[in-house]
Amino acid sequence: MKIQVINGPNLNMLGKREPEIYGTLTLDEINRILEEEGIKKNVIFSFFQSNHEGAIVDCIQQCNENMDGIIINPAAYTHYSIAIRDALASINVPAVEVHLTKIDEREAFRSISVTKDVCISQFFGKGIDSYLEALSYLIEKWKVSKKEGDNE
Ligand code: DQA
Repeated sequence: MKIQVINGPNLNMLGKREPEIYGTLTLDEINRILEEEGIKKNVIFSFFQSNHEGAIVDCIQQCNENMDGIIINPAAYTHYSIAIRDALASINVPAVEVHLTKIDEREAFRSISVTKDVCISQFFGKGIDSYLEALSYLIEKWKVSKKEGDNE
């Protein structure tokens, strides 16, 4: 199974960025933890981070036909990027939205996600575990879709 992990703006600053809110793990450390979990579960990851909306849209479009799933933390774009929402809606690859923090318990603007409805699920508020839960969820969905494919 191939999974694209996409992290949006300012997530390259993890570790240094408001550690009291986002924790002390760097993005590299998060990616390494996912990679180790992936080895146990036969998952190959591609990792992408960008501070630019269009680059994230390009990455999402390139997932079509190349990837079996997407784990995306659109970061601040979650709350207003219709372009990223439309890109997720335009592809046939299931995406799961993740957030490190409890977006529903912070500023009011963070409780709105314009991308959530075009994702198959959303995990938030658990730090690195949000990503790990998204991974397990995608793997389960993928297994079910494979079984359904075999029965057809
Ligand atoms: C975030 C939450 C967003 O509101 C914020 O803009 C981020 C990170 C999270 O992972 O908790 O950059 O997506």
